[in-house]
Amino acid sequence: MSGLDNISLDERARAILRANDRGGFTLPTEGLYPYQWNWDSAFAGWGFASFDLDRAWQELESLFSGQWPNGMVPHILFRSDDPGYFPGPTVWGTQGIGPIPSSGISQPPVAATAIRAIWQADKAAGDARLRALLPGIKAWHRWFMDWRRTPEGAIFVTHPWEAGRDNTADWDSAMAMIEPAGVGDYTRRDTAHVNAEMRPTKADYDRYIWLVNRGRNMGWDEAEMAKDRPFAVADPTMTFILLRANRDLSHMLAAHGMDTAEVDGWTMRLEAGCAALRHPELGFFDAVNLRTGAHTGHLTSASFLCWYAGLDDARMRAAVTEGLASSSYPLPSLAVDSPHFDGMRYWRGPTWAMVNMMIGLGLADMGLAAEAELLRTRTGEMIAQHGFAEYFHPQTGEPAGGGTFTWTAAVWLAWASPNAGDM
Ligand code: SER
Repeated sequence: MSGLDNISLDERARAILRANDRGGFTLPTEGLYPYQWNWDSAFAGWGFASFDLDRAWQELESLFSGQWPNGMVPHILFRSDDPGYFPGPTVWGTQGIGPIPSSGISQPPVAATAIRAIWQADKAAGDARLRALLPGIKAWHRWFMDWRRTPEGAIFVTHPWEAGRDNTADWDSAMAMIEPAGVGDYTRRDTAHVNAEMRPTKADYDRYIWLVNRGRNMGWDEAEMAKDRPFAVADPTMTFILLRANRDLSHMLAAHGMDTAEVDGWTMRLEAGCAALRHPELGFFDAVNLRTGAHTGHLTSASFLCWYAGLDDARMRAAVTEGLASSSYPLPSLAVDSPHFDGMRYWRGPTWAMVNMMIGLGLADMGLAAEAELLRTRTGEMIAQHGFAEYFHPQTGEPAGGGTFTWTAAVWLAWASPNAGDM
């Protein structure tokens, strides 16, 4: 790429964030996702920090303005009712619980890590804004420890959407145990926006909606829902991302002279919990179906978030070397030699820029500079060649899902652009 190309790509990425900005919060992409999504906002803030620090803070402040009294930060904040999206606010039925109509589940807690990055770029002016956010971040992390932690200390999800990896093969065995009786007729909207072959199947959707209906019927009462969990999978996405976020929270609390004992206690429990995610024979990190106790046996991009969580690991080093040798693109969401691999179908194979950014940042933090740089340059070249798509085929780079996507633009600005870090 020439310098000029890089400058125009930086400008395009900034233009995408501006175009998806709805005044204090950012849509992931127009049409397909017409609201504020939780981890999308964290990445959006991270991207805005490269050129508009005030707007970066606003993104995270608006996310926490939807926090529930129990500490949970919802995965979608419905700031309007858009008929182009299903399931919308009336299906979730959370009215009266939180300050803004929302979904009833959460999403991977990237926010503390993004907030630390914004604060480090804006220490003087941003200090008061950070202080105002710290209690909300801590309350959210406590909610995970109270309601989503296994006895061993790993974090589990109660809905496939909670991990953000909607149709990963990691959920297959748990999804097969759900009989979605009475789910009734409904009209999907996602397949009106993108090709159905890039999206989850109807069997998946029946179970997604069945789980939403169940939560709504229970008033999203965590104690009530905990009595019997039809879907519960201990998940490397949630466990590793919370562990990293918790370390970042502790750092920010300590920098403000605040007590870190409770948060550091959570870090120790999560570190212990990671051991429960190691497949006993295959040796890599995977998910566990808590209804059976069985490991899923899938090597996914979430497995490679161990370094982001601060854990180095010989078996994962070997796996990342193999993964990087298996194609010339960033790491896929499912190993390309898996019988379940489907290169265009959402989380069953495609490569996602923001997961690769987290993996790359983790590798760099843990001293694996060559692997980190390879992921960064591969991600940058893929975006430069194929655009700011939601996700990409991991062997051809073919763009898939939504276009002009906020988090792909944000990842470009924060990490993958050759100019990242000096804008
Ligand atoms: N990812 C889900 C969807 O596609 C919701 O978070 O709508």
